[in-house]
Amino acid sequence: MPHHLAASKQRVPKTHHLCLSLLFLFAIFGSSHGDVGTSSFYNPPYLPTACYGNDVSQFPANNLFASAGEGIWDNGASCGREYLVRCLSATVPGTCVEGQIIQVRIVDRAATSVSLALRDGTTMVLSATAFQMIANASSADVINIEFQQV
Ligand SMILES: *[C@@H]1O[C@H](CO)[C@@H](O)[C@H](O)[C@H]1NC(C)=O
Repeated sequence: MPHHLAASKQRVPKTHHLCLSLLFLFAIFGSSHGDVGTSSFYNPPYLPTACYGNDVSQFPANNLFASAGEGIWDNGASCGREYLVRCLSATVPGTCVEGQIIQVRIVDRAATSVSLALRDGTTMVLSATAFQMIANASSADVINIEFQQV
């Protein structure tokens, strides 16, 4: 193969890679896709009662899970759904970990969970591990979030 062809062949994937990265970011949080809501968190003991009874094997190994607020509970159809979540803001500036996006699995219903959320009535109650990945739990127990079902 002529040398200049080999060279241009190397450049194409780089450009392509950048485009894909940008597309990926838009796909995750294009302004028309994400919903806005609120999140609090809950502490152990964790049981996935409303979704899976006491079957703790339903928790993802990385502890990134959440219980569904009434707005997304969907009569139990939300059990097992995965959401991308990021912190948008909180009362105390600097609470959010900028640029951090987590993926959580719904394992329970917030209104009836064994461990209750630190705040009632939020869209999605995150595990303490999940909450602390996107926000400083010492400065706020409720945050505004953007979320999108995977
Ligand atoms: C978290 O918030 C507390 C209370 O506002 C603050 O003292 C602490 O420095 C914050 N931690 C980080 C990592 O920002």
